Amino acid sequence: MEYIAKVNNLFVFTKYSVIFVVKFTKVLLNMTQSEIEFFDRLAPTWDANEVRSTPERIRNILNLLPLKKGMSVLDLGTGTGVLIPYVEEKIGLEGRIGAVDLSEEMLNLAKSKYGKYENVDFMRIDFEEDPIAGMYDLVILYSVYPHLHYPEDTLEWLFKMNVKDDGAIVIAFPSDEKFINNIHHERKSESDHLPPATVLATTIEEWGYDTSVLADSEDAYVIIIRRKK
Ligand SMILES: C[S@@+](CC[C@H](N)C(=O)[O-])C[C@H]1O[C@@H](n2cnc3c(N)ncnc32)[C@H](O)[C@@H]1O
Repeated sequence: MEYIAKVNNLFVFTKYSVIFVVKFTKVLLNMTQSEIEFFDRLAPTWDANEVRSTPERIRNILNLLPLKKGMSVLDLGTGTGVLIPYVEEKIGLEGRIGAVDLSEEMLNLAKSKYGKYENVDFMRIDFEEDPIAGMYDLVILYSVYPHLHYPEDTLEWLFKMNVKDDGAIVIAFPSDEKFINNIHHERKSESDHLPPATVLATTIEEWGYDTSVLADSEDAYVIIIRRKK
């Protein structure tokens, strides 16, 4: 009896140790709780403070992209959904948008503003960790790239799981990299340094993709990434 109790205790101890290690590793490796809380805190004032994302800048960026009526777009790190109405203008009601964010506060605001669109699916997912269903024509990381923990793995995973054969991934910002790096410094964000567009495009080419820098100015930083032909 005593032997069985010991084995049982050992089993329970091992089980909970494994669960602890898995959970702890997950927290360390992916979007951390402090990052989620950071964006949850910023959510209520995000739209008022996000002065760079003017309709003109967003439309100029989207005009550079291969967007047509009926297309499907995955807006990763949608935040309060700043891109949603402008992507809607491009793809129409016959298109589809997947709006993904891990910050509940951000996503709730996006839903409260754009939940009326029937062709938008709001998903609370860590896109570096958990799978997203469906293949899309375009995956957009708008003001999100420096927050990735595993950019190379994440791009590979997204191309495999979510990008149609002739689709693409876009990295975009409504400013240059200096503005982004300054704001991250001021806000003490846990994000990575953003290199100039040409430098990042070269790095991504070295990972095995075709890239084009579509904009590299004070008002737009846009890189489009495709599978090698
Ligand atoms: C700088 S904000 C940009 C929000 C929006 N795209 C905009 O420009 O207003 C970055 C957003 O990405 C989200 N995010 C970052 N990493 C993420 C991840 N791995 N999975 C889901 N959301 C993520 C954050 O929660 C945050 O809302």
